[in-house]
Amino acid sequence: MSYEQGFFKSETLPYDEEQEGLKDQITIRFSHVVAEDTPKGQAVLKFAELVQKRSHHRIQVEISPNGMLYNDVNELQALKDNDVQMIAPTLSKVTKEVPSWEVLDLPYLFSSTAEVQKVFTSDVGERLLNELQHENMKALGFWQNGFKQMINEKEIIQDVQDFKGLRVRAMESDMLKQQFEQVKATPVTSSFDELFTELNKQKMDALENTISNIYSKSLYKKENHLTISNHGILAYAVIINKQFWQQLEPADQQLIEQALKDATEWNMENAMQMNDHDLQQLKNLSVEIHTLTPQQQTAWKKAFMPLYRSFENRSDAHYLHEIQQLIQ
Ligand code: LMR
Repeated sequence: MSYEQGFFKSETLPYDEEQEGLKDQITIRFSHVVAEDTPKGQAVLKFAELVQKRSHHRIQVEISPNGMLYNDVNELQALKDNDVQMIAPTLSKVTKEVPSWEVLDLPYLFSSTAEVQKVFTSDVGERLLNELQHENMKALGFWQNGFKQMINEKEIIQDVQDFKGLRVRAMESDMLKQQFEQVKATPVTSSFDELFTELNKQKMDALENTISNIYSKSLYKKENHLTISNHGILAYAVIINKQFWQQLEPADQQLIEQALKDATEWNMENAMQMNDHDLQQLKNLSVEIHTLTPQQQTAWKKAFMPLYRSFENRSDAHYLHEIQQLIQ
């Protein structure tokens, strides 16, 4: 696929190669919940490839995708316990630990992935990242997946009123629950790895997700009415166990940071393209697709305004203002 192009930009080997034979082998277990052929799955693979190549395989990255080892419910704890050394959860799922990350879940805050990238690579982005202050966890960077869309079982969601009475899957996040309550739907929380099974059991009517997650997890087979609403972003924090990090040699920290920087660059450049590619796949299947008209989108934005008003009253409202200023 063309999103493979442009990778391996930096070839720096920031430590003395002759010394490397004297150093111990290091294994980083990296757990995540999505398929490999997604913006996050690919970014983890790129990161691992770079770390291994640049350390001449002295540092190994063992990847467990698809929630094979740990899922939404237990991956944070596994990281804190150092059972895995790295994870990349969706920001929404860490908002109990880092309430300020809720700002990034405000519906229609961003209108392009370039804006998201601008924020992530800015001083505001750095301060947001550093909001994760935890004795066992250190945030190393942000990745993105793309914009969230809606899929529904019975019919296409177009107007705000169409949400009324629907049971909609929400990630474990107060902001996302409120988002659906705002349009009179009932949020139902569910772990990502359980989604397909829970759709089978009809535990929910609709859900929000990115095209790449909807396609790679076959969610469209259960709910084949897709609304291109672009109403929110799905982005990740790449987090490492703090004690593990502190025990690394400075040169190894530098190697890992550089590999992550390069994998992040790849992620930012290719995430949108992967979602576009998968949208094309969905178009070739029997999925009914509707893109919100400008009028419908305006009505959705209006319906979500109270979330902004309540964010304005928070002590961290400055993040909202700073982001708005940066991308206006
Ligand atoms: C979800 O639960 O829908 C997402 O957080 C999955 C992911 O990691 O992209």
